[in-house]
Amino acid sequence: TPALASTREELAALLADARRSGDRIAFVPTMGALHEGHASLMRTARDATSGPVVVSIFVNPMQFAAGEDLDRYPRTLDADLEVCAVEGVDVVFAPSVEEMYPGGFSHDSVHESVTVAPGTLATILDGASRPGHFDGVLTVVAKLFGLVRPDVAVFGQKDYQQLALIRRMVRDLCMGIEIIGAETVREADGLALSSRNRYLDADQRRTAAALSRALRAAQERAAYGVPAARWAAMSVLNVEPGLELDYLALTDVDLGEAPETGEGRVLVAARVGSTRLIDNVAVRFD
Ligand code: PAJ
Repeated sequence: TPALASTREELAALLADARRSGDRIAFVPTMGALHEGHASLMRTARDATSGPVVVSIFVNPMQFAAGEDLDRYPRTLDADLEVCAVEGVDVVFAPSVEEMYPGGFSHDSVHESVTVAPGTLATILDGASRPGHFDGVLTVVAKLFGLVRPDVAVFGQKDYQQLALIRRMVRDLCMGIEIIGAETVREADGLALSSRNRYLDADQRRTAAALSRALRAAQERAAYGVPAARWAAMSVLNVEPGLELDYLALTDVDLGEAPETGEGRVLVAARVGSTRLIDNVAVRFD
């Protein structure tokens, strides 16, 4: 079973030996409510080092806007520790809010502190719908990187814009951490695993499957160009009355304008009931 640290000092003590002997530290940041998607990240981390694998579990208030699901976000620490144990994780860091934001967190006071400004890549897609979200993500990940000081960190492609922004932060702020982007893990019907899926009732769960179906339709049509791919996805999404589309975006791999030919990405965000879901896939426009 993994060693559990809830303070910075405990974490530092657990990593001191590895640090001294120069072992490669691999890190998987999470907000808990762990599922098979998270577990696959842990396996990727395990494969990336013979040294310690560290998992953090912290529901970061800074990345939730007022009115979002911070209070109802699932907290399942015992089950999470079980998942980490099965995957051979060495250290779990599960700090309190006070530990990560001394004095407690508030959106009003946080900008008296130094925070990470995520730049223009955070103004599109999810960033447009969730202002301040990526400031919160990058700030907490930078703090976690400062505490864990990993050599390599693993993130899921499920949150593609988040992954792109973390790569960008590491490059622009010269953090010198290797970032691995892991494949999205899906249910049998294609729905991407998410901690938020447990908010869905049976009807909503069926509706939610349309997201990945739409992405697959776009993928199959991408050889005919961007408009054809977009049309294929929209014709799946349009016939789902319970689904309120936020965006369907066809882009290049860096979330810029989609190319005429070559590799790209199709991304979708939608609300099903009060639950916001996102998904994306790789495509080839030729
Ligand atoms: P969380 O939503 O818990 O996700 C933790 C990591 O698991 C992220 O890198 C995410 O992309 C990955 N992940 C989630 N679902 C996945 C799936 N179905 N397949 C593969 N990987 C999946 O993302 C966050 O937490 C937070 O924003 C965090 C980075 C921890 C900062 O607070």
